Amino acid sequence: MKVAFRTFGCQMNISDTEAMMGILRRAGHEIIDSEEAADAVIVNTCAVREKSEDKLYGKLGQLKALKKSNDRLVVGVCGCVAEKNSTELLTHREVDFVFGTRAISRIDELLSRAAVGERFIEMGDYIDELDADSPRLRTSKHHAWITIIYGCDKFCSYCIVPYTRGREKSRKMTDILNEVRQLADSGYREITFLGQNVDSYGKDLEDGSSLAALLRETLKIEGIERIWFLTSYPKDFSDELIDVIASCERISRSIHLPVQSGSDRILKSMNRGYTREYFLDLIRRVRDRVPDSSLSTDIIVGFPGETEADYENTVSLIREVRFERVNLAMYSPREGTLSARKLPDDIPQEVKIKRLNDLLALQKHINRQENEKYLDTVIDVIGEGKIKGNGKIYGRTMNNKIVIYHADANLIGIPVKIKVDSVSAGPLYGEIVGVL
Ligand code: SAH
Ligand code: SF4
Ligand code: F3S
Repeated sequence: MKVAFRTFGCQMNISDTEAMMGILRRAGHEIIDSEEAADAVIVNTCAVREKSEDKLYGKLGQLKALKKSNDRLVVGVCGCVAEKNSTELLTHREVDFVFGTRAISRIDELLSRAAVGERFIEMGDYIDELDADSPRLRTSKHHAWITIIYGCDKFCSYCIVPYTRGREKSRKMTDILNEVRQLADSGYREITFLGQNVDSYGKDLEDGSSLAALLRETLKIEGIERIWFLTSYPKDFSDELIDVIASCERISRSIHLPVQSGSDRILKSMNRGYTREYFLDLIRRVRDRVPDSSLSTDIIVGFPGETEADYENTVSLIREVRFERVNLAMYSPREGTLSARKLPDDIPQEVKIKRLNDLLALQKHINRQENEKYLDTVIDVIGEGKIKGNGKIYGRTMNNKIVIYHADANLIGIPVKIKVDSVSAGPLYGEIVGVL
């Protein structure tokens, strides 16, 4: 069959789609981009906010129309909305099968059943079937996603993820290291270890595995020049981990530490398990030990009960830390979560929008000022992709800065030295002054 994937949401979903594409291709199917030319379309969905969920329902509208002209088209829905709304989804006539985040290893069998007309839901946990030897059709030829831990046990009061991704389950360290070795052998230079809380990695294995230990072992593998990891949970970010990062330049200097709010009252109500002061102290410890690190974060505005004073605490935290990047979101109540059950969504939409826009403007201002520090400096960049039409490519620094420069596409994946000659609030611009 010709199969097209549509993927929404986080890197975890991108990584899951890569695994499903690999399995289907090995089974003889063809992976294509066009929905019109496809025999099957699989939609991998996100439920983190209402807007994310709306994307699936918009897509279903399109697929319903497509089915009118191609009644043999098979439609599958997986990912976080599939976990959350499985029964409801199957009431849509255009949906043929719905499967859970831990059933992705069975995609071949599920698709075959759907292709002969069966309509069903599969929510089983077969995630252990995925290992280093599972085929993966990776989007990039030099930077690979590697999921190291599935699920989340944190139950932040606003968050749907623990309900859609289930309990934390770590992959065996030997298995992950095998995957890294295979990647290094086939020319990959960068990897990103993925998990909702990579700092929880290994705890459930009870064999001494941890993110720090995994990083130490990965550093022994030749060929991998940059190691990234996403996402960290502030409360579990250990001094041991900070030391490992400090000890080796091949570990990313870009650290994502979602704070969510600068107000202790709101942090408590979010069930985040740390205070503003704890977070600021963590930032000091990181910057002290890893001075060249750059930090990014996630913030939610308009959480139930967020007063002007609470919001001002978030503003002052952003001013104090000066993050490299801030992902901002307006609170969106998610069915079944503690905050949606217990707390009224009482911040008016206009207030949420104003707080969001004010923080966007503040962060843009900080970004521009911070980027100006790069002017006339020479930085190490690995090329990532082409920019259409102007003979330039974009690449990334160890601090996750996007840099745009003149280069042939054959320099994608190659480390170069760039002298920065202009900056914006977003990317830096410059020219190659040397190859590493
Ligand atoms: N495990 C990660 C990321 C989880 S989801 C972490 O702990 O940070 C990514 C981001 O979406 C979160 O950091 C949060 O800022 C945002 N988010 C999650 N649930 C949300 C909700 N109900 N409304 C608005 N934003 C939400
Ligand atoms: Fe959601 Fe919190 Fe888990 Fe992150 S740590 S996925 S915000 S419950
Ligand atoms: Fe979305 Fe699920 Fe990821 S809710 S953010 S796709 S874990």
